Amino acid sequence: MSPRLRVRRSVRTTHTAVLAGVLLTGTVLAPAASASYGPLYKNPHLPVSVRVNDLLKRMSLDDKIGQMVQAERGAVTPAQAADLKLGSILSGGGSVPASNTPTGWADMVDAYQKAAVGTQLGIPTIYGVDAVHGHNNVYGATIFPHNIGLGATGDPDLVERIGRATAEEVAGTGPQWDFAPCLCVARDDRWGRTYESFGEHPDDAVDNSSAITGLQGRRLGERKGSVLATAKHFIGDGGTLDGVDQGNTVISEAELRKIHLPPFKAAIKRGVGSVMISFSSFQGTRMHAQQYLITDVLKKELRFDGFVISDYNAINQIDGQEGFTHDEVRLSVNAGIDMFMVPWDAPQFITFLKDEVAAGHVTLDRINDANKRILAKKFELGLFEHPYTDRSFQKTFGSKEHRDLAREAVRESQVLLKNDGVLPLDKKNNKIFVAGKNANDIGNQSGGWTLTWQGQSGPVIPGTTILDGIKSGAGKGTTVTYDRAGNGIDASYKVAVAVVGETPYAEGQGDRPKGLGLDAEDLATIAKLKATGVPVVVVLVSGRPLDIAEQLPGFNGLVEAWLPGSEGAGVSDVLFGDHKPTGKLTVSWPSSFAQEPINVGDGKKALFPYGYGLTYRR
Ligand code: GLC
Repeated sequence: MSPRLRVRRSVRTTHTAVLAGVLLTGTVLAPAASASYGPLYKNPHLPVSVRVNDLLKRMSLDDKIGQMVQAERGAVTPAQAADLKLGSILSGGGSVPASNTPTGWADMVDAYQKAAVGTQLGIPTIYGVDAVHGHNNVYGATIFPHNIGLGATGDPDLVERIGRATAEEVAGTGPQWDFAPCLCVARDDRWGRTYESFGEHPDDAVDNSSAITGLQGRRLGERKGSVLATAKHFIGDGGTLDGVDQGNTVISEAELRKIHLPPFKAAIKRGVGSVMISFSSFQGTRMHAQQYLITDVLKKELRFDGFVISDYNAINQIDGQEGFTHDEVRLSVNAGIDMFMVPWDAPQFITFLKDEVAAGHVTLDRINDANKRILAKKFELGLFEHPYTDRSFQKTFGSKEHRDLAREAVRESQVLLKNDGVLPLDKKNNKIFVAGKNANDIGNQSGGWTLTWQGQSGPVIPGTTILDGIKSGAGKGTTVTYDRAGNGIDASYKVAVAVVGETPYAEGQGDRPKGLGLDAEDLATIAKLKATGVPVVVVLVSGRPLDIAEQLPGFNGLVEAWLPGSEGAGVSDVLFGDHKPTGKLTVSWPSSFAQEPINVGDGKKALFPYGYGLTYRR
């Protein structure tokens, strides 16, 4: 018996007759309301396709165009969002409610939902955030290592568990959609988003697409505390010329398919619910106008059945001019983008799209395709049945369990690059001098996308710094002295630890076209420590390999800590040998800046090759 005729045994009420009638005829009968649910689309026992088709028939053009639009919370009140019939609201990086707490967030998100559900059709809105290393907008959330560190763990199961923990902290505060994971394949370390990548080989993103299963579950709606995931940014964001953010990826289509497509195939296999389009261009055409890649490749060839969202104001860039035009609206809608992140310009976008439909430049079929995709995910997520925040998950927010998981990830992500025997540090009867701008700075060790879009230095979130970890890890008879610049160091110390590297940045503000060397402060700190003859362990806190070949001979030990997040003590767990280093590089480490881009298999001789990482002999 074909599945279409197999009416679910469990349903023995009038729905059966309605359902059989619907399925047999293949079309929706006159929208007969089943007694207890009202219109068909409100009946959770019916197949999603039936619910979508029924709802679509009841929607006006305004309803449908509104569903395709996402606005920034700061741009519209809940009432305005409902009046515009918006399908989604977002918090851009750092866009937080007055009370940046789980309750403040849940109240805010639920207010938008109440307004949406209160409209005639009651289509719930979906609220999106960038929870890219934990629920990083919210004060007190567990902040996990950024992806480049997670890639170094070589542990996709850990990444899945982090996805689950992140989903719980997000869901408990309201948002139902996470613009993560970034499945970019970073091919040039000068790119400011290198740290958002799991590594330079496509397999790094393929393997760690397990984050999607953590965020969504094996199937959307399967378990509470899940959120819609986003595979981003389609396609070639990490392959631009010279690593310029939002630049031009000028490789062949064959190379694009070989390097940048596999992660999206893996994401689709895992049932990812949304895909975000890249700001970048491919062969000179902005991705947001690439109908062949979005519709023919992503939707048809790869059979992606979720919905496609634009990036933040990205359609404005299609013609290279400020703002967006009717042409850019038409090009991006017809390219196959389904929802538009037009944070501050929703009304204008709606007007322009209505104009384009009226002029016959955008077909109703295209509008309906976008709506079917968006509505299907809202039904699958269970938003129609459970539109409001499940605040029971707030107990997981910043919990000890999640912080322990984050510390485990920090430990596993550490990569030991050099050790003349100085590591592991003796816990007992030691005299340790700690220096460097990143030793006692939880903002620096968390990096970008932390409380704000760009991140910031300082004691900005709760957690442990690397210095905290060294102090708490030190045993009987050991003293730990800290001075950021190294003042006070002398030959009486047995070892010095210099924690140096980068300060926070995000996206293009992290592009480094001129060099990736240590800054003057770091070089001075290390020199001061070395001048005493005390062995020096350098710990790099950075979102990418740095150009340290010249200084390397002077290091007795070198550990790449990446951007560990709130649980810096995980670094000292490795420095003291409580956890032997197991991390391996998923990026080739350049012998000099001039080598960029440098990638596994390109024949260039790296200082430390892809896959490199030492451990302790004792
Ligand atoms: C940003 C990023 C994207 C993010 C979006 C929403 O510009 O490119 O990764 O999800 O805007 O904040």
